[in-house]
Amino acid sequence: MNLKKRPRRLRRSENIRNLVRETNLSAADFVKPLFVVNGENIKEEIPSMPDNYHLSLDQLEMEAERLLDLGIKAVILFGLPEYKDAEGSSAWQQDGIVQKAVRQLKNKFPEIFVITDLCLCQYTDHGHCGILEAGNIKNDATLSKLAKIAISYAEAGADMIAPSDMMDGRVAKIRQVLDQNGFKEVGIMSYSAKYHSAFYGPFRDAAHSAPGQGDRSSYQMDAANSDEALREMELDVEEGADIIMVKPALSYLDIIQKASDNFKLPIAAYNVSGEYAMVKAAAEKGWVDEKKVALEILTSIKRAGADIIITYWADSAVQWLNE
Ligand code: PBG
Repeated sequence: MNLKKRPRRLRRSENIRNLVRETNLSAADFVKPLFVVNGENIKEEIPSMPDNYHLSLDQLEMEAERLLDLGIKAVILFGLPEYKDAEGSSAWQQDGIVQKAVRQLKNKFPEIFVITDLCLCQYTDHGHCGILEAGNIKNDATLSKLAKIAISYAEAGADMIAPSDMMDGRVAKIRQVLDQNGFKEVGIMSYSAKYHSAFYGPFRDAAHSAPGQGDRSSYQMDAANSDEALREMELDVEEGADIIMVKPALSYLDIIQKASDNFKLPIAAYNVSGEYAMVKAAAEKGWVDEKKVALEILTSIKRAGADIIITYWADSAVQWLNE
């Protein structure tokens, strides 16, 4: 028996545990997703995502102020448009809901870092992330639409564009049109390894973006694959992504770790709606302690290698960390 080595020495008190802790969470790690809607004085809780809301622009401003006070300086915006059509044209209108939200936020709080999710699914009447033709999602026809949306977001003042559609070649296309239109400093955070996941369920209720027919398996990645995630990330890096993302996070910690081991640029992880909702529901039943479980999940995502965590818990987590 060799008891010269006793790992428990480093766990004897709170002080020593704090000194040797390898992973620490802070407000600077988090990006808060926000859902913006037309109208006035709207702050409606999303039923499947408690403590998260549909916000009209006036309420968005108040929410941004609250987040900034907490030290959360980055948000990612999702819009619920006024209308939907086959090609998703409400996504690239100058006075579209996201464009208005970006303008208002950057005007009022120039210091807030505004990321816009870029996808067609909230804007198309069929709910798919691309142009639909005879049951197929047309990759190359979709790229020109994504390009238009990217320019309109950059024109509105977005700091970073986050394409989540999973079409091939979109990062290159978006980089090209941003540069051509004088937006060289606008970054791209690519949803590089975005899996075809049932964990997006609550979000699709929140964003009204569930596909009417079929599913997203012809463009989002198969949950069983990991080499493929590395190929997707490599392509996005080559195409000019500034940040690459793994999504969802919790069932894909191995992918986050591989991303961080293989690519020397910042790795984002999206702690998605289903990961949030299941803890909320269990906590409501008194079966788990929300605060402890949430902080454990967020810590695991960071420990796996994420530099940036997009999470609906951003504000709660900061409050808990400050307690
Ligand atoms: C849009 C998009 C989705 C999410 C982020 N951007 C939904 C989807 O792909 O169906 C999911 C976010 C979440 O579940 O929290 N394409």
